[in-house]
Amino acid sequence: MSDKEHTIKPWGGRFSEATDAFVERFTASVQFDQRLYHHDINGSLAHAKMLNRAGILNDEELQQISNGLNDIRTEIERGDFPWSVSLEDVHMNIEARLTESIGVTGKKLHTGRSRNDQVATDIRLYLRDEIDTIATELTRLQEGVIALAKREASTIMPGFTHLQTAQPVTFGHHMLAWNEMLERDYGRLMDCRKRVNISPLGAAALAGTTYPIDRAYTAELLGFDAASANSLDSVSDRDFAIEFTAFASLVMTHLSRFSEELVLWTSAQFNFIDLPDRFCTGSSIMPQKKNPDVPELVRGKSGRVIGHLIGLLTLMKAQPLAYNKDNQEDKEPLFDSIDTIKDCLKAYGDMVPAIEVKADTMREAARRGFSTATDLADYLVRKGIAFRDAHEIVGQSVAYGIKHQKDLADMTLEELQQFNDSITADVFDILTLEGSVAARNHPGGTAPEQVKIAAKLASERLLSR
Ligand code: ARG
Repeated sequence: MSDKEHTIKPWGGRFSEATDAFVERFTASVQFDQRLYHHDINGSLAHAKMLNRAGILNDEELQQISNGLNDIRTEIERGDFPWSVSLEDVHMNIEARLTESIGVTGKKLHTGRSRNDQVATDIRLYLRDEIDTIATELTRLQEGVIALAKREASTIMPGFTHLQTAQPVTFGHHMLAWNEMLERDYGRLMDCRKRVNISPLGAAALAGTTYPIDRAYTAELLGFDAASANSLDSVSDRDFAIEFTAFASLVMTHLSRFSEELVLWTSAQFNFIDLPDRFCTGSSIMPQKKNPDVPELVRGKSGRVIGHLIGLLTLMKAQPLAYNKDNQEDKEPLFDSIDTIKDCLKAYGDMVPAIEVKADTMREAARRGFSTATDLADYLVRKGIAFRDAHEIVGQSVAYGIKHQKDLADMTLEELQQFNDSITADVFDILTLEGSVAARNHPGGTAPEQVKIAAKLASERLLSR
C-alpha cells in the first residue's frame, strides 16, 4: 500500500494510516444501503440543480454532474457498478465513481451538504415510494376482503368470545371486521407519510451551511411537502422510521390474528373454509396433510416486524443530538419491515379472494353451540321478564339441552315451556339462526341487510382514496 492510499477515502485527509480491514467492514453500510442508490441519485440531482441556481455550479458543471449521475444509475441497474466496501456507503461509492468518470467537477457535488442530511433525505425518499406501494397492496387486500364479505353476506357462522360459541354472526360481517382493522392501518400509513415527506436536505452535517442554498427549491424538486424546520433535528431523528415500523407492526398484528383464524378454520376440527392447494404445502411424511403455510408464515413473520419496532425505538432511545453513527443501524430493520410487509400483503391479497367457504359446516357449528340463547333471553324480556331472570331461565334450558343433547331450536314447545310458561309458538322465529342474525339489524350489526350496506360503504371508502 502506498503511503497515501488511505486518502482514497473522501475523508482521508487528516488520517495517517489506513483503516483497519475489520473496522472498514464493520463500519461500512454499503452491503445494505445500496438499495438507496436510486433515491441517492435523485437527491444529488436536485442538490446539483439548486447549486447551479445559486451560482455555485455553472451550467456546464451541472450538465456534467447530471449526465455522470444518470450514467451511474444505468451502470448500477445493469449490475456492473463496482461497489466497494472501502468506500463505506452508497453515498461515497456513487460520489467517488462520479469523480472517476467526470473528473474534478464530481468533487464539487458535495458542496453545501453532508452525508448526514444526504442519508436522511435518501431514506425519506425511499420510504415514501415504498409507502405508496404498500398503500396500493393494502387497498388490493381490502378489495378482496370486501368482495368476500359481499359474497358471503348471509352465510351464517358461529361468532366466538373466549373461542367459545357465543352468538351466530354472518361470515360477511366477520370479514368486514378485518376490513375495519385494515382501514385504520391505511389511515396510520397515510398519517405517517405526511411526516416522512419533509426534506432534511440543507441541514448539512448538523448546523446548516454557509452557502446560499435554497432549501425550498430542493424540497420542491424532490416532491417533499416542505423543508424541515431545524437542522439538528433533521439529521438526528429517525422517528419517521419508527412510526412506519409501528404501522407495520400493527398490520402484521392484524394479519397474525387473521392468520390464526384461517389456520383454525382449515383444520378438520373446524372445517369452516378451504384454501386452494396453490397456497398450501404437504408433509414429507404424512401423505394426508395439507398445511396452511401461508397464513402460518405470515403469523410467524409478525415477530420480526414487531422486533424491528423495538429495535428502532431502542436505537433512538437516549441518543444525544445530533447525528450519531448509531443511526446507520436504522436501515436493516426498516428495510426488512418494508420487505416483509410487502410480501405478507401480497400473499394475503392473492389468497383472500380464493378462500372457499363451507357454509354447511359453519351453519351446523352455529346450530350446535346454543348460539341463540341470548335471543331467547331477549324474547323473555319482551314478554315482561326482567333480564337477569330471563338469563337464569335460559341457563336452565341450556342445561336441559346439554343433558338431552338438544339445541334450543330442537326442543318442542312443551319442553321450552317447562322453563317459563310465557313462551309461545312464536319463539321458534327467534331461535332460528336466520332469525337471530336478522334481528341485529342496526348499523354495525351482523344482519345480512346491514352487512350489504356496510360492504357497499366500505367499497365507496376505498374508491375515494
Ligand atoms: N452510512 C451512514 C448512515 O447510514 C451515512 C451517514 C454517515 N455520516 C457520518 N457522519 N459518518 O448513517
